[in-house]
Amino acid sequence: MAVPLRMAAVAAVLAAARAPLPPELRGPAGDARQEAAVRALARRLLGSRAAAVALSVDAALAAGGPDVYRLRSPPGSTVAVAVTGSSGVAAAAGLYRYLRDFCGCHLSWSAAQLRLPDPLPRLQTEIRAATPNRYRYYQNVCAQSYSYVWWGWERWEREIDWMALSGINAAPAFAGQEALWQRVYRALGLNQTEIDAHFTGPAFLAWNRMGNLHSWAGPLPRAWHLQQLYLQYRIVERMRSLGMITVLPAFAGHVPPGVLRVFPRINATRLGNWSHFDCTLSCAYLLSPEEPMFQVIGMLFLKELIKEFGTDHIYSADTFNEMSPLSSDPAYLAGISNAVFRAMTGADPEAQWLMQGWLFQHQPDFWQPPQVQAVLRAVPLGRMIVLDLFAESKPVYEWTESFYGQPFIWCMLHNFGGNHGLFGAVEAINRGPFVARRFPNSTMVGTGLVPEGIEQNDMVYELMNELGWRHEPLDLPVWVSRYAQRRYGAPDAAAGAAWQLLLRSVYNCSGACVNHNRSPLVRRPSLHMDTQLWYNASDVYEAWRLLLSAGAALGSSPAFRYDLADVTRQAVQQLVADYYQRIRDSFQRRALPELLAAGGVLLYDLLPELDALLGSQRLFLLGRLLQSARAAATSEREAEQYERNARNQVTLWGPSGNILDYANKQLAGLVLDYYGVRWSLFVSLLVESLNTGSPFHQEQFNQAVFQVERGFVYNEKRYPATPVGDTLEITRKIFLKYYPSATQRGRDGPP
Ligand SMILES: *[C@@H]1O[C@H](CO)[C@@H](O)[C@H](O)[C@H]1NC(C)=O
Ligand SMILES: *[C@@H]1O[C@H](CO)[C@@H](O)[C@H](O)[C@H]1NC(C)=O
Ligand SMILES: *[C@@H]1O[C@H](CO)[C@@H](O)[C@H](O)[C@H]1NC(C)=O
Ligand SMILES: *[C@@H]1O[C@H](CO)[C@@H](O)[C@H](O)[C@H]1NC(C)=O
Ligand SMILES: *[C@@H]1O[C@H](CO)[C@@H](O)[C@H](O)[C@H]1NC(C)=O
Ligand SMILES: *[C@@H]1O[C@H](CO)[C@@H](O)[C@H](O)[C@H]1NC(C)=O
Repeated sequence: MAVPLRMAAVAAVLAAARAPLPPELRGPAGDARQEAAVRALARRLLGSRAAAVALSVDAALAAGGPDVYRLRSPPGSTVAVAVTGSSGVAAAAGLYRYLRDFCGCHLSWSAAQLRLPDPLPRLQTEIRAATPNRYRYYQNVCAQSYSYVWWGWERWEREIDWMALSGINAAPAFAGQEALWQRVYRALGLNQTEIDAHFTGPAFLAWNRMGNLHSWAGPLPRAWHLQQLYLQYRIVERMRSLGMITVLPAFAGHVPPGVLRVFPRINATRLGNWSHFDCTLSCAYLLSPEEPMFQVIGMLFLKELIKEFGTDHIYSADTFNEMSPLSSDPAYLAGISNAVFRAMTGADPEAQWLMQGWLFQHQPDFWQPPQVQAVLRAVPLGRMIVLDLFAESKPVYEWTESFYGQPFIWCMLHNFGGNHGLFGAVEAINRGPFVARRFPNSTMVGTGLVPEGIEQNDMVYELMNELGWRHEPLDLPVWVSRYAQRRYGAPDAAAGAAWQLLLRSVYNCSGACVNHNRSPLVRRPSLHMDTQLWYNASDVYEAWRLLLSAGAALGSSPAFRYDLADVTRQAVQQLVADYYQRIRDSFQRRALPELLAAGGVLLYDLLPELDALLGSQRLFLLGRLLQSARAAATSEREAEQYERNARNQVTLWGPSGNILDYANKQLAGLVLDYYGVRWSLFVSLLVESLNTGSPFHQEQFNQAVFQVERGFVYNEKRYPATPVGDTLEITRKIFLKYYPSATQRGRDGPP
């Protein structure tokens, strides 16, 4: 009897959703509003100096094509430069071009170098730049959890400013979607217990949204929903005011089990488990494509979402991300695709579907051309946009005839889990987009940056953003020396030489290397760890020496100090691998004194030094991460939950180390109290094994060390959220102790 009532509730919600949108939520902002937004951005960035820059927006400049900006210095005016963009974003990109190429400035996640010449330089000739890319996309769905999860508006505002200055014009706006899902689930008749058992905690929502995971680290507190809604209003408003396209979430077909209780005859099937999770936390129910409720739920959700946030008509949905479909029958796959798209167009006739192309290269055995074609061609050509997510390494467009005619965005993924580690595939990203555009019958419509985590490897992101506006590759060595000069605010031969070495080593990955940090430093120790590098380790040691030698000249630059810490961190990571090898070799030779010596240096000096070094830089503080998690809470209980979320994500990733250390980070606090304690247990068990003559059992160690790992997640220790100590001094100390041994790379160790 209850079912018809609930269907009536559904009908009521649908009817209410048909009310017309308020005008401010319809369509992109007009030129005047975009102009006001970009001027406000300039004031936030430059303060009173913004008065010498005139900013305007004129959509006609692009003549219907991709974005264009124009820079000129009006004769006899107090305005040094007048920037006109075809959108707010284009004007902001023009402004950054001026700051970068004429004022020697630099802006990045780690630091800003905005020392402006006085007076501001004037341009001799007019500059006009037109991007070949309709879309310059940014944000990976995973970064919503790895990087943005605890952000408040202040941090989002800075990010959106950076996006605009970088010329980015399309990005997901995913906050607050759970609040609307909750509304939809309630309307369908699910009760709160069922909803609470569905959502994960905040730090794992990215995978809940893709149907990979449920419940883990949840439920979501009521305050979370309110906060995220508030954030989302501000995010979409700001993005649109700058002329950016917001990509909103849509229904991909997964439903919580409560839907099956309310609608017992619904046609849904349980998918297999995701990653290393069993069905208590994964195995989502997927509606059958013919099931009428597929359309009802999909439209209900999207109507609610559009009513709340307006729309730019692009929607994201991923049904089979890292999950095996029930059947490889192209008819079934096409049916799912068609159902997802129909639910979108049912709510918004202009809908375009943005899909991640990750699955195609993740499970290539399953996704053969007929399967890929079925998914892509079930949607009218041009109504889908595929993100070729890992194009710098495994481009999919090449073996799918350019996604069988659907538009795609060439994306640089760059990193997994937001791991720290110097990394880049600069040659591939410098060539890739241009090769893709020249591909026969290419359907490329843009470039993208889709890192799983941010606030690292600034250089690679600045490079990729610049490439999004270019028509041919850059000269990398020339580009990187200018980059170093702008970043530190002064030319310096040693720093320039250091960057050339970094460019040709850590940043020049080609072939099989992947930016997933597998250094022994951040992995659960064993006797079988891989210490292979994709580059010449000596290049990093030499870059380290050169950078440190530039300390006297550049030491006052925050970006320099951050880079010095980061390169030192990389050198220490290499050293840890060396000490690991010494430990392992001496254990295998049953040489106890050598084992004790190497283990002692690692545990009592090198790791503490690394922890202290990281503690001197804001972006490398565990305390900052935990504080931001706690700051998102409105009660002590929420603060506890959020802190456990944050600690679990960077360590165990699941209740039992399901994706152990996937999102490893080199943070002050984590290095000593997690990696360090783990290493200490490893070394002590090896020593005990030599002492007692009993073999070392990896399985026993794993069980014991799990208690250490779990202990860290549930620990209540507080860590500093502001930097302590002087990066230069700490680096010098580490360098003096370890650099000679680094170059000799002999067995004698530090003095
Ligand atoms: C929700 O429904 C389930 C299944 O009928 C039931 O076990 C549970 O007690 C209900 N919870 C609430 C809060 O009503
Ligand atoms: C997940 O599924 C695979 C394949 O069916 C199975 O081998 C594995 O044991 C499952 N993992 C868990 C944690 O259940
Ligand atoms: C349920 O969906 C499956 C997969 O789409 C389909 O094969 C099956 O016939 C459907 N069952 C019913 C009872 O409609
Ligand atoms: C490009 O498209 C044209 C027209 O559809 C077709 O004839 C041609 O074979 C395609 N070229 C390639 C290399 O796929
Ligand atoms: C990267 O390495 C390749 C050889 O593997 C070399 O040809 C190329 O010049 C290097 N690029 C840079 C920027 O050093
Ligand atoms: C690594 O680089 C150093 C100098 O930085 C050089 O002496 C050495 O030959 C290089 N090794 C290899 C294998 O290229």
